[in-house]
Amino acid sequence: MSEAQRQILVTSALPYANGPIHLGHLVEYIQTDIWARFQRLRGHRCYYVCADDAHGTPIMLRAESEGLTPEELIERVGREHRADFADFHIGFDNYHSTHSEENRQLAELIYRRLREGGYIVTRTITQLYDPVREMFLPDRYIKGECPRCGAPDQYGDHCEACSATYSPTELKNPVSVVSGATPVTRESEHYFFQLGKFGDWLREWTAAGHVQPEIRRKLEEWFADGLKDWDISRDAPYFGFEIPDAPGKYFYVWLDAPIGYMASFKHLCERTADLDFDDWWAADSRAELYHFIGKDIAYFHTLFWPAMLHGAGFRKPDAVWCHGFLTVNGQKMSKSRGTFITARTYLRHLDPEYLRYYFAAKLGPGIDDLDLNLDDFMQRVNADLVGKVVNIASRCAGFISKRFDGRLAPALAEPDLYAEFTAAAEGIAAAYEGRDFNRAVREIMALADRANRYIDEKKPWVLAREAGREAEVQAVCTMGLNLFRALMIYLKPVLPAMAEAVESFLDIPPLTWDHLRTPMTDHVINPFRPLMTRVDPARVEAMVADSRQDLAAQPAATPAGGEENVEEITIDDFAKIDLRVARVTRAETVEGADKLLRLTLDLGGETRTVFAGIKNAYAPAELEGRLVVMVANLKPRKMRFGISEGMVLAAGDGGGPFLIGPDDGAAPGMKVK
Ligand code: 2FM
Ligand code: ZN
Repeated sequence: MSEAQRQILVTSALPYANGPIHLGHLVEYIQTDIWARFQRLRGHRCYYVCADDAHGTPIMLRAESEGLTPEELIERVGREHRADFADFHIGFDNYHSTHSEENRQLAELIYRRLREGGYIVTRTITQLYDPVREMFLPDRYIKGECPRCGAPDQYGDHCEACSATYSPTELKNPVSVVSGATPVTRESEHYFFQLGKFGDWLREWTAAGHVQPEIRRKLEEWFADGLKDWDISRDAPYFGFEIPDAPGKYFYVWLDAPIGYMASFKHLCERTADLDFDDWWAADSRAELYHFIGKDIAYFHTLFWPAMLHGAGFRKPDAVWCHGFLTVNGQKMSKSRGTFITARTYLRHLDPEYLRYYFAAKLGPGIDDLDLNLDDFMQRVNADLVGKVVNIASRCAGFISKRFDGRLAPALAEPDLYAEFTAAAEGIAAAYEGRDFNRAVREIMALADRANRYIDEKKPWVLAREAGREAEVQAVCTMGLNLFRALMIYLKPVLPAMAEAVESFLDIPPLTWDHLRTPMTDHVINPFRPLMTRVDPARVEAMVADSRQDLAAQPAATPAGGEENVEEITIDDFAKIDLRVARVTRAETVEGADKLLRLTLDLGGETRTVFAGIKNAYAPAELEGRLVVMVANLKPRKMRFGISEGMVLAAGDGGGPFLIGPDDGAAPGMKVK
């Protein structure tokens, strides 16, 4: 406990600013937050920073499909992300955006240093280009037939049918997912970071214990395959930062994303006295730096990122820590099963601390996947937190309040028992430090069992009925509450809100690890209030149902690269969609929107305005008078150009879109079944 104060900076991966935070993301934020809170509880100076990852083609295209500018989209999503994190008690010291001035400056600085160091080269490459949308196409925006087995509808870089990997230019009959056009090949000059020049240094860095053993083995494979130059530029149109001295060329999103860690910290320094950026990021910095990430992005964080930092003269991470993926009920999260649960949907039904506790109870230091089994989740939270931990306080507090005006006994009746609790401190601390939260939780729950056994043995409720044994009742309950307080110190990194409620119930200043040494005696506490209620199975069911409904409420046509949902739905799900025949009475182009047409639709008396992304396929004049099918009960969506009050149906799988219309004889307003 009397360790010297450490200076620690921790980060979690930056979430993309084009979609909601879901429970899969939260594994990492909860893991990092627990670790950071543990460090602070121990008296260390620990900062936890993060940001939205705001650049790249998917964000640019998503904004366009929503009729927004990228800036508007990332602003909205950034706000939603912050609210989700705050409500899960993720205690960032700063949450920033990669689309920020700090990040632009740092990205330029690092790039210039790498260029001066001789690590940047240019080469002309050939890529597929969408002649309609006038942009180069990233692999995931091209579909075609596999060059090896001929399977249709395969993405630009690999075949799901035969597992072949190839270059998009090899695809047969390629189609742009963005516009449906046939791509052409085009040359362009690209900028490359010469990772291979860092091979020896990276081998040493890896061997020095900065990564987990599983990741080290993966790195050995990558070294054996050879480190290739990394393409760090993209051509306009691109949402990102323009490369210095290279007009029309932009940094690839993954170049400036990790620099976002530095930028967020810099932004914090600008607003915090006595926090100096260079103290934490100079090559000889004595501060510690740890990145928490998912195992899928290890390549970026254990090769490119340390090499970039090294080449640009900055400090390197002390460690990069990977975790596994989340499954729900043993399977990949699924929208149709209702197990693709967003942070917001969870929060509408359940207490965030249930999930923090459950994840803590399951997280170890390795990269194994983690399963959220919803039955086990309920059982575990109820048994451990409500049945064991809170139970200790609720069994003792009433007697102290009612019989002793809230005053605790002047001394601990069983100092040896209390010493058993404090003796566990170093083991629990070591488990937290090593990210072995599941071990920490097991040790804490073993102590909770011990505390309950003590109360069971002493039976204060029996003593309370016997004359002359008042002092014993006070002594036992004082012991019980001190054991409870020790448990809450240990659990505070996991349950910060409950710890705060306990601090106000016990009427004590914020708990720290050092408080273990000073038990509460002769102190007046407040009346007990329930600290946590049991998980209600009905709420869990409702959350799952709500997650299915969230899907029904989404526009059916996912933008390119969006997740496809091919699983079964019930007839009841289908019946929720109100499909109607409508007549296009007007079709107009929309200024500033490349893909949208504004349609005025007659729904048999009622008029609706719908923005449809069909401009590439239809001229407005050919639409007027035509019958279409629309989703009439789609929640109106606010777009940059106005409110869209529904959606027209169109077919398209790369090609198209092809509007769907009824046969002759149908009339506006008719229901489509
Ligand atoms: O994989 C992702 O979700 C990325 N947005 C993570 C970026 S982490 C860091 F490098 F910025
Ligand atoms: Zn194939």
